Amino acid sequence: MGDDAIQRRVDDLREEIDRANYEYYVLDQPSLTDAEYDALMRELRELEAVHPELVSPESPTQRVGAAPQAGFAEIQHPRPMLSLSNVYNEEELRAWAQRASRFAGGSELTFVAEPKIDGLAVALTYVDGVFDHGATRGDGFKGDDITQNLRTIRSIPLRLNPVPGGMMPRVLEVRGEVYMRKADFERLNAGIAANGGKLFMNPRNAAAGSLRQKDTRITASRPLRLFVYGIGYTEGEEAPGSHWEALEFLRAVGFAPSPDATRCDSVEEVWAECERWQAQRADLDFEADGVVIKVNDVRLQEEIGYVAREPRWATAYKFPPTQATSVIKEITINVSRTGALNPLAVLEPVNIGGVIVQRAALFNEDEIARKDIRARDTVVVERRGDVIPYVVKVLEERRDGSQTPFAMPATCPACGTPTHRADGEAMRYCPNAACPAQLREKVHHFVSRNAMDIVGLGEKLADRFVDLGLIHDVADLYTLDWDQVAALERLGDQSAANLRAAVEASKDRPLARLINALGIRHVGERTARLLADRFGSLDVLMEAPVKDVNAVGGIGGVLAESVVDFFQEPRNREVIAKLRRAGVRTADDRHSSGNGSSHLSGKTFVLTGRLSSLTRPQAEERLRQAGASVSGSVSKRTSFLVAGEEAGSKADRARDLKVPIIDEVALLRMLEGAEDTVPDGIEATDGAPVEAVLP
Ligand code: IVH
Repeated sequence: MGDDAIQRRVDDLREEIDRANYEYYVLDQPSLTDAEYDALMRELRELEAVHPELVSPESPTQRVGAAPQAGFAEIQHPRPMLSLSNVYNEEELRAWAQRASRFAGGSELTFVAEPKIDGLAVALTYVDGVFDHGATRGDGFKGDDITQNLRTIRSIPLRLNPVPGGMMPRVLEVRGEVYMRKADFERLNAGIAANGGKLFMNPRNAAAGSLRQKDTRITASRPLRLFVYGIGYTEGEEAPGSHWEALEFLRAVGFAPSPDATRCDSVEEVWAECERWQAQRADLDFEADGVVIKVNDVRLQEEIGYVAREPRWATAYKFPPTQATSVIKEITINVSRTGALNPLAVLEPVNIGGVIVQRAALFNEDEIARKDIRARDTVVVERRGDVIPYVVKVLEERRDGSQTPFAMPATCPACGTPTHRADGEAMRYCPNAACPAQLREKVHHFVSRNAMDIVGLGEKLADRFVDLGLIHDVADLYTLDWDQVAALERLGDQSAANLRAAVEASKDRPLARLINALGIRHVGERTARLLADRFGSLDVLMEAPVKDVNAVGGIGGVLAESVVDFFQEPRNREVIAKLRRAGVRTADDRHSSGNGSSHLSGKTFVLTGRLSSLTRPQAEERLRQAGASVSGSVSKRTSFLVAGEEAGSKADRARDLKVPIIDEVALLRMLEGAEDTVPDGIEATDGAPVEAVLP
């Protein structure tokens, strides 16, 4: 390649990678597979290695982080970063709005309400559309220079899109909140726990701890994201005249603005928004601690003005607290279905944000030791959404001498077998596979709705079966003596008959449910489905070596080993043999002919937009099993573009190239269908879905 051609290729690669980051981290609609993304990055990195003169700070390769910096330099904010006043109820909200209106000379005000994201405030400065530097809020006037750390965050554009129909300010300072999604936080902490490390208290602490790293390689490895909520300062061009337009501007140039911001024409509407966010709070995938309300019109904002370091034109409605103090009555141990000993604090009942909390997770013995949690301690307990409440900290000043340090039991509290903790693991286990506590949990899981779905077999009844010795493993459910069951106190003939029918019906569940029901460590619904799709029968899966299991997209090494270990355990093989003898189906029909079909071989698919019945990885997995290949971008060689909801630019490109566009229904039919249902060389005339031509 000549120099020009190399420069062009480098530019193209950067553009494609930036777009992929944007689709993944801002739009939440990934368009490339991990492998495709990696390949682009690898090519770019190689070109930059050979041509170091082409490396520039806004290249996506510069997001990877660098060795420790000495410390953080200080950055002066061009305008102070303010804090917000708070209101706690509707009355205070109305009073705030009235005051604002008074300062605006009695004008009718319109507002924007948006979630108050619980993360870390940052200011990002772009010069001529290129990310130049970024800082923490600090004392509001000057903050730490965390430019290199911010560069690693994929939802932060390093280069802005041109402004549609307008001009980019020469200097643009954008403000927002760096945060971590709840699910990412849980995953991060699970990884840290598995390595016996110190857990983060909550997503906010995890975000703060990750962002303020001297070694930006650590920052790069953490799942941080950015929501922007305003423009702090511009030079060269005026900022938009309303907050709403500012959010639209930010979205257009490539940022993720705070989600679901709403324009409100009255205080009533604002209050309705506050209530709506509060009700949805637990379901949000990020932490929010309130709703920020801003006067929309920037000119009126200036008229309304500021008190001390708070704007009078904005305020925050704060949600009710999620923490409370309580006393630990005792620390108990719950033995899970894998034999893990889960320590649990039994609390004096306490009301946290309207829910009575009586138990809190203590995670593992290292966590207990680190926080020095003891029975009879007074503790701060936190409840967030659906996750089980946990102990934040001990109030040591409330100790009266009756508190006793906690030690994990040396023997299983359920069966007395000596417990065991492996090197490098945080959890202690009961190694007895016949432990009744484990069996109870195994049965609960086996019969649950997402597993074998045995209706009518609740946890209490399952426990009775275990405790009475009617079942010794999950397979015994299929050989229960029904007369004996009917004779159980308070059960009776009719219930027993219903239950028997439910047990019978469960024999015919799809393979994925059975795999999930077996309770293999680390295997949940999603992995079970991947395994069922790939292997088609328990016979094949049971004999699969680690490398084959690992080769299934989305299944990592630890998981693959756990699967293989499970099937190598003689007791587990015995249970599976019993299930089979009892008539439980252990294979999916469409695989019974052999190792899967390949009726889509030679076809190349590209996926875009959101599918409703499958996740993107599942769709890709199933296409590959059917012999098709899946690519990230549309080209002349693409056989079909599968367009889900909100399909983007790929659909335009497919139309340009006359690549047939099909919808999800057509995709599912193709996946299921036999050879002759696969259309060949359909002419897409106007880009309309070709579903109609399928039989
Ligand atoms: S606006 C003048 N909007 O809350 C307005 N702040 O207590 C100043 N925050 O330090 C901020 N979400 O870090 C605004 N949608 C949002 C916000 C938000 C979170 C944080 C921000 C600020 C603090 C103010």
